[in-house]
Amino acid sequence: MYASFCSIGAYAPKKVLSNSDLEQMVDTTDEWITKRTGIKERRIAADSELTSDMGVEAAKIAIERSGLDKSEIDLVICATISPDYFNMPSTATIIASKLGLGTIMSFDISAACTGFVYALSVAKAFIESGMKRSVLIVGAEKLSSIIDYTDRGTCILFGDGAGAAIIRATDDKSRAIIDVHTGSDGEYADLLMTPNGGSGSIHDDGSKTFIKMRGNETFKVAVRTLTNDVVDILRENALSSDEIDHFIPHQANYRIIKAVGDALGLRDDQVVLTVHKYGNTSSSSIPMAINDIYESGRLKSGDLMLLDAFGGGLTWGSALVPFAPDGD
Ligand code: COA
Repeated sequence: MYASFCSIGAYAPKKVLSNSDLEQMVDTTDEWITKRTGIKERRIAADSELTSDMGVEAAKIAIERSGLDKSEIDLVICATISPDYFNMPSTATIIASKLGLGTIMSFDISAACTGFVYALSVAKAFIESGMKRSVLIVGAEKLSSIIDYTDRGTCILFGDGAGAAIIRATDDKSRAIIDVHTGSDGEYADLLMTPNGGSGSIHDDGSKTFIKMRGNETFKVAVRTLTNDVVDILRENALSSDEIDHFIPHQANYRIIKAVGDALGLRDDQVVLTVHKYGNTSSSSIPMAINDIYESGRLKSGDLMLLDAFGGGLTWGSALVPFAPDGD
């Protein structure tokens, strides 16, 4: 049994936070943000809009496009670092309940910006082992709930949103996800973290949990890790970069994406970019980008996608994924 990637959906909240809005909040400029990151604007969820609500909206679209009856879904995995509730219940469980999926298995994955690729890897393993047949994977983030809007080093980068996909069992190898690579290295844990609130808190004074980042060092490790991971997965699968239809990297920073694309010899038309309009939406960024090319008509049945993610942990992952909508 193989696992196929058969549908995609995404949701972006309505409120836009532009670079000029940020100029009013911290000591920064549109010019600085654009030049250093490529980001022009990002979306911010309403106060009443939870991570699970955005995940549900993305999931509804992915389920509808898959042609599945929702009773056929037998596992929900949500990748998030901004869950509705820290610790419990999981956001996946809330999403499953809001969608009316019944009493199926559901759980969250914490792998920061690599979360969607980790979720894909776990869904593939469940399907290939025969334990599950139709898995809903969701990347959903309300990062605005863990951003310090007085810290210009982080608040300019991140945004809210969600993406979802249906991964299904198939016996047709030509439709199957070819490979997923995942890795992590806790030696770099302090580059990107939320230091408050957990059992590792040094000053647990009940203050809010915010993302803290050593941006410049993170940048360098990101370029190296994203590039090496793709070189490895292409080599191991005897593929060259011109056989990739869509390179879909984690949307953290245009300069990171450009450096990785150049190092891999990719043409601009192979590289998918949404960072200018959504910023870094962590685990949602890759499925939101896939949805973007789907809705614009660029993603066709049989196209080969190369996903490439990197995030706090550190974590990283890449995947070779043919787009395999049912009924084609
Ligand atoms: N506006 C204006 N100036 C800013 C600024 C902002 N928003 N943020 C930082 N600066 C200043 C710094 O204070 C520093 O000033 P100094 O030289 O007077 O000390 C200067 O800009 C350079 O800072 P530096 O951190 O070296 O800039 P950079 O070129 O590395 O760009 C990032 C900063 C955050 C854009 C960049 O490091 C980055 O994108 N890193 C990767 C982050 C990332 O992708 N994280 C998520 C991974 S999943």
